[in-house]
Amino acid sequence: MDDVDGGALGESGRPTIAQLTIAQLTIGVLGGTGAQGAGLVSRWVRAGMRVVIGSRSPARSAAAAATLAAATGSDRVTGTGNEECAELADVVVIAVPFEAQAALLHALRDRLAGKTVVSCVNPLAFDGGGGPHALRVAEGSAAQQAQALLPASHVTAAFHHLAAGLLADPAVPVIDREVLVLGDDPGSVATVRALAEAIPGVRGVDAGGLNQAGRVEALTVELITRDRRERRERRDRDRQGPDRHDVDTSGRVASDRVASDLDASDLTVGDLHVPVVTEPPEMTITHA
Ligand SMILES: NC(=O)c1ccc[n+]([C@@H]2O[C@H](COP(=O)([O-])OP(=O)(O)OC[C@H]3O[C@@H](n4cnc5c(N)ncnc54)[C@H](OP(=O)(O)O)[C@@H]3O)[C@@H](O)[C@H]2O)c1
Repeated sequence: MDDVDGGALGESGRPTIAQLTIAQLTIGVLGGTGAQGAGLVSRWVRAGMRVVIGSRSPARSAAAAATLAAATGSDRVTGTGNEECAELADVVVIAVPFEAQAALLHALRDRLAGKTVVSCVNPLAFDGGGGPHALRVAEGSAAQQAQALLPASHVTAAFHHLAAGLLADPAVPVIDREVLVLGDDPGSVATVRALAEAIPGVRGVDAGGLNQAGRVEALTVELITRDRRERRERRDRDRQGPDRHDVDTSGRVASDRVASDLDASDLTVGDLHVPVVTEPPEMTITHA
């Protein structure tokens, strides 16, 4: 942490978060090796911020940090285990799947005490090759579950609708999007809005208390469902359309071209990057 001019230091002898500007903060990203964490890390490192990538495997996060440092010329990104990441950072982002959150936060509870913690976790699951559905969370939302597990931390909810694919896309230097930030501690909400706005083009919006986080998380499912339906309808229209025999130079008909374009292993759904879960084809094994 950088030294800060002026003002009394906190009890630990370190500056309090209110005394630090965004550029002086260390941002930790738990599960920062994944799609969403890596996208956020990349944007923040490119904005000149100091970031620690957390992982269950320190070797994996160190390699991710080295790759990003080489690509950006930054000496402000490092990789380590999730425990050390939580220890070192002033603000900690949870970027792991919902199923992994409870065990991870339970183990990090003491290290995260007093800190601003940001949940971008969408509690959802896919029915095989079908659409997503929201998972029921006893506490009301993934962010509220995080707060219940971390009673001494200031949990905020943000970045649910900022797609990993968009964050990672070098062809999009400016992301013209709003990020909804929810939380009960005004200082933490202000910090996370500033974190969002460190990404060029993004506007951080105060969207209410943490008890509203479930609505934002559920909206993700709606966005994904709507986008998948629109894609399916577009594909069907294209298959039946008048141009279905439109042959391109490779000899493929237009409908094949569209269908194969949709066969990507990941979809960008609205603004969301969603891994597509496809069922393996049914196989009948006959024995001679
Ligand atoms: N993908 C998107 O577009 C998007 C958009 C908005 C919000 N989100 C939310 O962001 C979170 C991360 O999404 P993602 O797509 O980045 O997920 P992901 O790539 O599947 O996982 C992220 C990281 O979580 C860690 N992890 C996986 N299982 C774990 C476990 N059991 N215990 C501890 N750590 C585990 C892994 O890191 P290590 O193996 O290195 O530990 C992994 O790299 C999710 O909650 C998602 O809902 C995603």
